[in-house]
Parts: sequence; C-alpha cells; structure tokens
Amino acid sequence: MPAISASAPGKIILVGEHAVVYGRPAIAIPVEQVRAKAIVSANPKQAPGTVFIQAPNIGIETTLAELPVEDPLAVAVNSVFQTLNISRPPALTLRVSATIPIAAGLGSGTAISIAIIRALSAFLGKPFSDERVSTLAYEIEKIHHGTPSGIDNTVITYRQPIYFQRISEDHIEIKKISLPQAFTIIIADTGIPSPTSSTVGDVRQAWLVQPEHYESIFDKIGTIVKEALCEIQSGQVEKLGKLMTANHQLLVDLGVSSPELDRLVRASLEAGAWGAKLSGGGRGGNIIALASEEQASWITQGLKSAGATHAITTLISESLHTNL
Ligand code: MEV
Repeated sequence: MPAISASAPGKIILVGEHAVVYGRPAIAIPVEQVRAKAIVSANPKQAPGTVFIQAPNIGIETTLAELPVEDPLAVAVNSVFQTLNISRPPALTLRVSATIPIAAGLGSGTAISIAIIRALSAFLGKPFSDERVSTLAYEIEKIHHGTPSGIDNTVITYRQPIYFQRISEDHIEIKKISLPQAFTIIIADTGIPSPTSSTVGDVRQAWLVQPEHYESIFDKIGTIVKEALCEIQSGQVEKLGKLMTANHQLLVDLGVSSPELDRLVRASLEAGAWGAKLSGGGRGGNIIALASEEQASWITQGLKSAGATHAITTLISESLHTNL
C-alpha cells in the first residue's frame, strides 16, 4: 500500500478574533507559506493495531497506545478510527511535521489535526469530505480549548479567505470573500508562545464578571469586521488598514495584547503600514501588517529592528479553491 500524505496551511485572523467566539463575525485568511504535513505508511512487519506516531518537531516518537488519550495527536488519530468504526487498524506509521510556529496564533494545532484527518482517512480508503474534516477538527478544538468559534478549522479546511459567523452551536454562516485587488500582509512573530486556550479562557472569565462591558467591545469589533468586508470587496486597502489598527486597540481593551505585540504594531505603522494588529489569541504570537507590495521589505526591516523574531510576507488574492 503506498504512503499517503496530506497537508494543511496556517491561517491569520484579519479582523474579529475573540469577538467571533461570542457570535460576532470575523474574517480569516489561509497562509499557504507555512504548513502542517502528515504522511501515513503501512507497516506490514508489525502486528495489526500497532500505530507508530513520529512528530520530530515536538519530540514525539511513540505508539498510539503509549500516548495519553488526551494528547492532541492521539485525539486526531482516534477521531478518524471512531468515525470509521475501526477498532483494530492496520499496522501503520504516521509522521507529522509542521513549518507553522506552535502557539503563535497561526493555527498550528488545527492544521496538524486536519492534515492527520485527511491523510489517515485517505489511507484507510475513505477520504473524508471537507465538511466532515472541518466538523471533526472543530470537535477536537473543543476538547483542547473549550469554546472555539470554529473559524480556524473552517479557514484551514477550505483554504480560502472567509467571512465567518457562528449564529448558534449548530448554525454557522460562511461567505467566501472575493478580492478584486490583491493585498500584501506581513506576518511578524514576537517569538513568545501563547496558547489560544489561555487567552480565550481569560476573556471568558472577564466577560463573566462584566458582561455588558465586554459585549460592547465585541459589538464594536463586529462593526469593524462588517466595514472591513465592504472595504475588501471594493478594493479600499488603505481604509482596511485603518480598521485593522482600530481592531487592535479594541483587542488591547480586551486585555489580550502585550508590550511586545504593541511594539510590533507601532513599528509597522511607523514604517508606513496602512494598518496593523495582533492576530489570533494574542498575548504573544504574531502581528499582521497591511502594506503596499513596495513597502513590505522596509516594514519587515522595521519589524525586525523592533524585535520580531521572524517575518513572512504573503500576497492575499482570490483563492484557487472554490469548493466552499
Ligand atoms: C483564534 O484563531 C481566534 C479566536 O477568536 C478563538 C476562536 O475563534 O476560536 C481567539
């Protein structure tokens, strides 16, 4: 049986993180330059049921039986076996690798789950539909971070810019965004890992204490997202930049920024970006800055001088994938 591989991109949240957990819309974009990859190969010399897992990036080389059941890799693998009612899988080896930085707001955990689900279901002869992949990845997110909105699994599964809103637990609205004009985003890392689960949990605690205050911030973010959609669709990138910076200020008000993130946002604005904000859960991880293609390298330099450990420039354009 030939080895089967699958990969999944990273993602950024252009506008709307955190508020999206509370039913407001958000816009997310896949980032194809960073990826997670899973390769499944048969292991005929081993007894059926033996599943080897190798994830050198995170120092894992063990069998599924030896991994704690709540380990994210084990959860992803078991979710495929359970969906297919497989209690004794063929002996196999799963290799997982990723170029997406971990706990950096770029969706590494979700992309790894999705690459595993795609590769393993295909290896077992039953490749899952995008809808099933996304649903399974959402269930896995719930185990790891409690109250995900579902935006990460959706954008990473469908690999195109989306406008996303969770209306209720089982009703989401997803619009594919058409982009009349391509635009350039610089993604710059503070180098500080910050798991999304903790910032999402902290926002929830604060919201429970002062619901009205936080609801009003979520409303303002929701309004920014709707305006951002109009600006994107009419190709008004400079206005989009202003909305991103306003969104960053509201994320500061939510308590999910940090001095390092604020410093990188300031540095990109000083270097001439149209707008900048933290992206994802916050406290650490990445900022994104919107700029003209010509200014991207100048802004990247400014970001590095301000302490960014790594920066990627990505051109956001109409996606090649149209199956949403
Ligand atoms: C994480 O990429 C975005 C958050 O809004 C969490 C979520 O939507 O599940 C912070």
